[in-house]
Amino acid sequence: MSITGTGRDRTKNAKLLAWVDEIATMCKPDQVVWADGSEEEYDRLCGELVDAGVYTKLNQEKRPNSYLARSHPSDVARVENRTFICSRKQEDAGHTNNWMDPDEMKAILKKQFDGCMRGRTMYVIPFSMGPLGSPIAHIGIEITDSAYVVTNMKIMTRMGQAVLDVLGTEGEFIPTLHSVGAPLEPGQQDVVWPCEPNIDNKYISHFPETREIWSYGSGYGGNALLGKKCLALRIASTMARDEGWLAEHMLILGLESPKGEKTYIAAAFPSACGKTNLAMILPPEGFEGWKAYTVGDDIAWIKPAPDGTLRAINPEYGFFGVAPGTAYKSNPMAMKTMEAGNCIYTNVALTDDGDVWWEGMDGEPPAHAIDWKGNDWTPASDAPAAHPNSRFTAPAGQCPTIDPAWEDPTGVPISAFLFGGRLSSTFPLVYEAFDWNHGVFMAATMGSEATAAAIGQEAIRRDPFAMLPFIGYHMGDYWGHWIKMGKNKAIKQKPGFFRVNWFRKDDKGKFIWPGFGENMRVLKWIVDRVRGRAGAVESPFGKMPRYEDITWAGLKFTEAQYHGIMDIAREGALSEAEAIKKYFENYGKHLPEELDKQRKIFKERAKDAPKVWKIAS
Ligand code: OXD
Ligand code: MN
Repeated sequence: MSITGTGRDRTKNAKLLAWVDEIATMCKPDQVVWADGSEEEYDRLCGELVDAGVYTKLNQEKRPNSYLARSHPSDVARVENRTFICSRKQEDAGHTNNWMDPDEMKAILKKQFDGCMRGRTMYVIPFSMGPLGSPIAHIGIEITDSAYVVTNMKIMTRMGQAVLDVLGTEGEFIPTLHSVGAPLEPGQQDVVWPCEPNIDNKYISHFPETREIWSYGSGYGGNALLGKKCLALRIASTMARDEGWLAEHMLILGLESPKGEKTYIAAAFPSACGKTNLAMILPPEGFEGWKAYTVGDDIAWIKPAPDGTLRAINPEYGFFGVAPGTAYKSNPMAMKTMEAGNCIYTNVALTDDGDVWWEGMDGEPPAHAIDWKGNDWTPASDAPAAHPNSRFTAPAGQCPTIDPAWEDPTGVPISAFLFGGRLSSTFPLVYEAFDWNHGVFMAATMGSEATAAAIGQEAIRRDPFAMLPFIGYHMGDYWGHWIKMGKNKAIKQKPGFFRVNWFRKDDKGKFIWPGFGENMRVLKWIVDRVRGRAGAVESPFGKMPRYEDITWAGLKFTEAQYHGIMDIAREGALSEAEAIKKYFENYGKHLPEELDKQRKIFKERAKDAPKVWKIAS
């Protein structure tokens, strides 16, 4: 069987057919298979993966149609130090990204990819990021030699023949190429999780000018499921810059009041801040009649719409969530999404009754399990049963709180942007920007506290817009793009900007704010603000709710406690202003002047503040 000339029965798109032939000629697989996205195909591939020892079929009563995979212990996370933005000019990638000249990178990669699929099947996966045919969506094609990738892409994207039908003969697509980097010699026995063992030979390469992705050597998550971070953030952010829209690392949440009024919020948080929990929040006691709906938990594509709003879609079709810590008490909706079955788990523990388990799940740990490395585990074991970055891949449509409009091709209108971090002092529970540019300043300077060992001059590890690992061009130019969007007259209904901090601690080191569902109290104030019906006072940081501006029904939280998370020590604010000055110095001429102006105004406000600025009551 020839490995070229395939796919003629599936599409007439000449560009796509030629590209697939070119890649097959380079990678030299045994065969080429075009994924059709059907259930039969999914079942067949999962069956093959079970036979090969890659997947374990889970207890069908407890986890219907669900599987467990264990990766190689060296291949467990995104490899940021091997992630490259290969723009023509290094300056365009910016100092926060690894860079290599595109020709140089292609020369290296062509050698790596030459014959890299020997002994394997090359799959062609047509996928759509966003609802098929949506004006906000984009089509990608992933070529991969991993059936694990094909099955995960079926959950994470709209994938298969329907995408080729929408693509048509002339349609544009983003070509993305992936190999685990482990060719097989004739007769060579495959391993369970093939990948390139040498980290220096792994490459997650992006070519923003030609809109291509080449990923070599890893089979895990964001390194291999190329629609997610690689396309929907790194490449899409450059497309968004060129075309006047936003590709953001944001969840999308819809809040419905008892009167049926719906308000959508898009929120960016660095990792380990409970983003998936917020995307699936359940309103707490005291919020009877309120409903919260999930549109997306990780990525938002946001475009100015003809009606003057900014409208967002979730380009993904599934959740690729961190398993440890996910429980009924922290995120019941994520647990229910998984209960419905049809999930793939990677690097979690396997219980004796064929169920999955991870640290932080409700109830007692199992007396015995098989850990993520395939070894016996008991609660007395030193190592965790599940890898800290173990994941569940789950269909978004199974989430009980999925928004009825989550597949609306025109997207949902965004009324507020939320930015957060994990900060134990100084930063209040919530504050609103004075205007768009101030909001961009708040987002550009956000971050989480560095671990104790790293605390020094730069106590906050900045993660601007939570995009540090995901921006496809110069971070300073990206801030400039946000500033420019604020000047776009076509956006008539400008969202408000808010910063939140759920993690402030008291002087005994304990969290003051209860978090989780109680965060709804902050969200309600935000909804009321953007609808022009809630009060606020001005602080050195921004506009803040007084105690009486928050709904407290159902929670005992005293005014004294409120002061503990809202009052601002001048010294803390001033040292933040000083730290931002140093941080901005790295940006040179790429720092938008509007942001330096915001920094100066912030410093003045902090200087003029009393020693302890106290929230009014
Ligand atoms: C993710 C991440 O996996 O942000 O979503 O790292
Ligand atoms: Mn993410």
